[in-house]
Amino acid sequence: MSTTTKLSSKELIAIEDRYGAHNYHPLPVVLERGEGVYVWDVEGKKYFDFLSAYSAVNQGHCHPKIVEALNKQASVLTLTSRAFHNDKLGPYEKYMTAYFNYDKVLPMNTGVEAVETALKLCRKWAYEVKGIPANEAKIVFVEGNFHGRTMSVISGSTDPSSTSGFGPYMPGIKIIPYNDLEALAEAVKDKDVAGFLVEPIQGEAGVFVPDEGYLAKAAAICKENNVLFIADEVQTGIARTGKLLATCGNCTCTGHCENRPEIKPDILILGKAVSGGVFPVSAVLANDEIMLTIKPGEHGSTFGGNPLGAAVAIAALEVVKDERLQENAAKLGIRFRERMSLLVEKSDLVTLVRGKGLLNAIVINDTEDSSTAWDICMALSRNGLLAKPTHGNIIRFAPPLVMTAEQLEECCDIIEKTILEFKK
Ligand SMILES: Cc1ncc(COP(=O)(O)O)c(C=O)c1O
Repeated sequence: MSTTTKLSSKELIAIEDRYGAHNYHPLPVVLERGEGVYVWDVEGKKYFDFLSAYSAVNQGHCHPKIVEALNKQASVLTLTSRAFHNDKLGPYEKYMTAYFNYDKVLPMNTGVEAVETALKLCRKWAYEVKGIPANEAKIVFVEGNFHGRTMSVISGSTDPSSTSGFGPYMPGIKIIPYNDLEALAEAVKDKDVAGFLVEPIQGEAGVFVPDEGYLAKAAAICKENNVLFIADEVQTGIARTGKLLATCGNCTCTGHCENRPEIKPDILILGKAVSGGVFPVSAVLANDEIMLTIKPGEHGSTFGGNPLGAAVAIAALEVVKDERLQENAAKLGIRFRERMSLLVEKSDLVTLVRGKGLLNAIVINDTEDSSTAWDICMALSRNGLLAKPTHGNIIRFAPPLVMTAEQLEECCDIIEKTILEFKK
């Protein structure tokens, strides 16, 4: 096969199917180019991206400042491992800790690695600071969570598609309902509980926003009981929900974090949009009392803290600040939910819209195992907008945060037209 032959979407999907593992079920669209809020398939069809690579591309596709940082660094130094220092890591760590107001950052690559790191850090703190007897530490997870796909992380999952066929699971995990403060208060009575791991808004589960005040009260319960409040902001962080972080709550700062969030997690987990989707960069942030429990040689990653990722992440976070993406997400999010609420009134097919900032979902009036949400996403793609169902009858909508008000109206028109014309 000649490498210059232009293959069709159909042919490229057939190659993936033949040679790749079957661990995903993508929409049958093959993309070859992206710019801002748009992506193009190999046949040249243009789409609005309404998923942003699961909220990794908050800054828009191929943001010129981020790509410039990538190219500049790629031609100088890409990887040293942590066997040696590199000239980008220290400045990146200084930048990150100032940006998010923590003493220290531990750099990793993917979201799930950062969650794993947070779990290890929590256990280390449990034994060295809290004084839990060896190998007895427990971490509380919540039902419906999604923290990634590794063994320890799926050990705390309640989703059979994440867990089935992968046992035995890691011990030391307690699972309580989400958005249930009484259950948390009860769980932390156990003196061996070291941490509480939670997504401020459950993304994969279908964009479940907890009750107002839940996170602040949960953090207070943790504090009273000497339990670490661990926030997984891999999907909700970096301006996605209309604040720099979802745990910022109702903090009133504008543009950039002024360090007075409603809740300050003991351990903060970030990934995805830390690098604007340009390069895998994730991070765990904590203060010294927690972070310094991990000593040299006890945890690491060959690529974690590489100069390429460090340069890209600084550029990506500068873009968030300079372009005031959190304000745009907050403003457009309100309008999006207004438009979708009107659609709920007009159509029997959509029962609900929920979300915060530009992390939203609509609930389709059909069973979880129906194909209706998938069929609607297929129709949306034909009409030039890409979104993906999560959990059967829920469609998540998470466009890049660089979207303009006019583009958002156009997207709402596409969604409305598609839903109103849709026949089961
Ligand atoms: C809240 C949350 N945590 C962790 C992850 C895992 O991130 P990654 O796929 O980069 O490992 C995800 C991915 O969707 C996520 O949404």
